[in-house]
This record gives sequence, structure tokens and C-alpha cells, in this order.
Amino acid sequence: MRRIAILGSTGSIGTSALSLLEQLEGFRVIGLAAQRNVMRLADQIARFSPRLVSIATAEGAAQLRAELQRRGVRALPDIRHGPEGLIALATAPDVDIVLVATVGAVGLLPTYRALEQGKRVALANKETLVMAGQLMTEKAAATGAEILPVDSEHNALHQCLQGVNRRDVARLILTASGGPFRTLPAAELARVTPEQALQHPTWRMGPKITVDSATLMNKGLEVIEAHWLFGVAPEQIDILIHPQSVVHSMIELVDGSILAQLGPTDMRYAIQYALTYPDRRPTPLPRLDFSLALHLEFHPPDLERFPCVRLAYEALRRGGTMPAVLNAANEVAVAAFLEHRLPFLAIATVIERVMRDHEPEEPRQIEDVLRADAWARARAHQVIAALVCAESPES
Ligand SMILES: NC(=O)c1ccc[n+]([C@@H]2O[C@H](COP(=O)([O-])OP(=O)(O)OC[C@H]3O[C@@H](n4cnc5c(N)ncnc54)[C@H](OP(=O)(O)O)[C@@H]3O)[C@@H](O)[C@H]2O)c1
Repeated sequence: MRRIAILGSTGSIGTSALSLLEQLEGFRVIGLAAQRNVMRLADQIARFSPRLVSIATAEGAAQLRAELQRRGVRALPDIRHGPEGLIALATAPDVDIVLVATVGAVGLLPTYRALEQGKRVALANKETLVMAGQLMTEKAAATGAEILPVDSEHNALHQCLQGVNRRDVARLILTASGGPFRTLPAAELARVTPEQALQHPTWRMGPKITVDSATLMNKGLEVIEAHWLFGVAPEQIDILIHPQSVVHSMIELVDGSILAQLGPTDMRYAIQYALTYPDRRPTPLPRLDFSLALHLEFHPPDLERFPCVRLAYEALRRGGTMPAVLNAANEVAVAAFLEHRLPFLAIATVIERVMRDHEPEEPRQIEDVLRADAWARARAHQVIAALVCAESPES
């Protein structure tokens, strides 16, 4: 029996994981955590009976307790809240696998603490590796913890790399759908709305990653994630636009052979692989249907229209705390865009200006990363305020 805690159980990845676990034998849900979705968390508690749960605030915890009592749930779980609650789940002695499916920097400390405990971390929350890839991978190596990527591209690369001598790998090729604005002319990008950005052509995901897919920052974050997961230099990691999202990623070997992993656009395949690795289990899900005249296209990304990719490569090359700064500025800018406070194209402007003002340092401990993150958030808010002020008609 593998015992699992899911951080972010009410989100897109979290609900996919639980729907998979309804059908997959040999797993027991020990812990669940969410930010504010009390009703969905209460449904999940009633269905999976975890012994430990966490929610973002004390008020949320009180609401959850009242809701469970209202429903007549007999054995109430241990209800925690805040960052400490997430860490309690990530480090619980009876948890073997921590599925980190929170979004953004909130996953950083729980992931690190789980690695300190030598656990398997099934990692969807890519921002944690972007922020502190070196510290995370060093900690995992020191404790024998495993980081199994859930992100479909890295999950695909992990599968392609099985049995391959790392010296024989010429490059990693991350595929990208290209997002909803793949073919939109640059002039029209200036006017796109959050509602349009949230219409992803192939994947159904949470709002932050969907906007990241529209700016292509998602692929930039994935380049950094791939660098840390697989120890490959930035210049050996390429991006290919592949609108059908059937090839989840590829590796090219020194002899020119290319190995690819293909599958339907459903995150449950990647989640299952990360949970059962190194075993393979028969999938309860539909298989890829080649009778549907599968048509696959690939072409290079347009870095002029989508500058976030360039910024991510730059952050990786400059190293130290710069990727954490890129990530924090992006989180703040995306939130402002989603709240209609910032135009789409200004997301990249904000990130570039915040990076310009940062002198990266080598983080020695996780607190150094948190400090850079806090600085970048404050700076991004200032940059946004200045941009909005400059745009306003009265100014
Ligand atoms: N969705 C995908 O297909 C996909 C694919 C590849 C990678 N990823 C990565 O996976 C991560 C999750 O993405 P998603 O699309 O599943 O996001 P999402 O739908 O927005 O879900 C985020 C989850 O995190 C929870 N959460 C947020 N802040 C929290 C906090 N402070 N404390 C506790 N829980 C908190 C949310 O709770 P509430 O529901 O209560 O707000 C929700 O359960 C992201 O890093 C994303 O880049 C996602």
C-alpha cells in the first residue's frame, strides 16, 4: 500500500489525481490540502477519509469543520491551516508520496521539507524547481528522496530517458501547444483579454498555468525545470510548437535518433506514471486512437511575439536567484492580468524590468530564495503601478 498526501487536491491536477485514485488499487489517501474551496475539500474528505487535512486560513479551517459536522462526517480528520498545515502533510511519517499540485511559490517549502524527509515527491508544481532547483535536487540527492515529474513534458522526458546513457543525449525537446494565441498577429496580442487567454486549445488547467501557456512562459519555466530534473545545459534544451499536444516531449540522441512519448491530453497518465514508477499498471483510461487520422505538426516558437521564453533562458543562464525572481515577477504580473489591471503584453515587460533590477546571488539555503522571491514581488508591484500610471489617460 502506498500512502499519499495531495497538496492542492481541489485544483485541476489534484482532482485528476483523485479521480485516478478512485480506480487505481494499492493507494491510500492520508492527507489533502486546499486553499479556500471548502465545499470541494469536504466532498473529497467524505469520499477518501484522509486522517490529516489543511486549508489556507484559520477561518477556512473553522468553516471546513462546521461543514463536515453539518454533513454528519463521524471521524473528523485532523484539520490544520496555513503554511504549517501544508508542511505537516508533506512531512507526515505515514506519507510515502507527496503529490505537490499547488500552484506558484506556495509549494516551495512543503516540497523542500518532503525532500528533507526522503519522500517521493510527485511534482506538478513546477514553480518550486524553477525557484530553487539546485537546493531541491541537492537535498533529494542527500536524503535519497525522489522527484518524479508530473508535468506532462518532463514526465515524457523521464520516460524517454529510461535505459538511456546520459552521455548519449544530444538534446531535450519540449513540445508546446503554442496556447490560444499561437497564430495571432503581434498587433492583436496587445488587446487580448483574460477570458480569451483562459481558452486553452488542448488542455484544461488552472488559470495561472493557462495564462502562462498563452504567454509561453509555461515553456520557459519548463526549460528551467528540465535543466534541474535532468542535469542538461540550457543550450541543449529546445522548444518545438506542436499544436496537437499528442507528442508530450522528445529526446535526441548523439546518433540522430529521436525518442518521443505520445499519449492523450489527459494529465492522469502522467500522474499514474509518477505514482507507480518504476512499475507500470494497466490504465483505466481510454488509449490514444490512431484510427482518427492523427496529424502531427511541429515548428519553432516565435520568440519575438512571445518574449517570455527568452526571459526564462536568460534567467537560467544568469543563475542563482534570478529564476526565482523571474518566477515571482511572473506570478504577480499574471495575477494583475487576470484581474484586468495589466495588458497581456505588459506581463513580459514587468518581468524584464524586475530582472533588470536584480543582481543574482547564489542561494545557500531556502531562506535566500524566499528573500529573493519577496523582493521580486514587491518590485513587480511597483513596476505595475508605474506602468498603469503611465497608461492612464489623466497622467
Ligand atoms: N493543470 C494541469 O494540467 C497542469 C499540467 C502541468 C503542470 N501543472 C502545474 O501543476 C500546478 C497546479 O496546477 P493546476 O492547474 O492544478 O492549478 P489550480 O487548478 O489552480 O489548483 C491549484 C490548487 O492549489 C491549491 N492552493 C493554492 N494555494 C494554496 C495554499 N496557499 N494552500 C493550500 N492549497 C493551495 C488550490 O486550492 P483551492 O482550489 O482551494 O483554491 C488548488 O487545489 C501548477 O504549478 C501548474 O503549473 C498543471
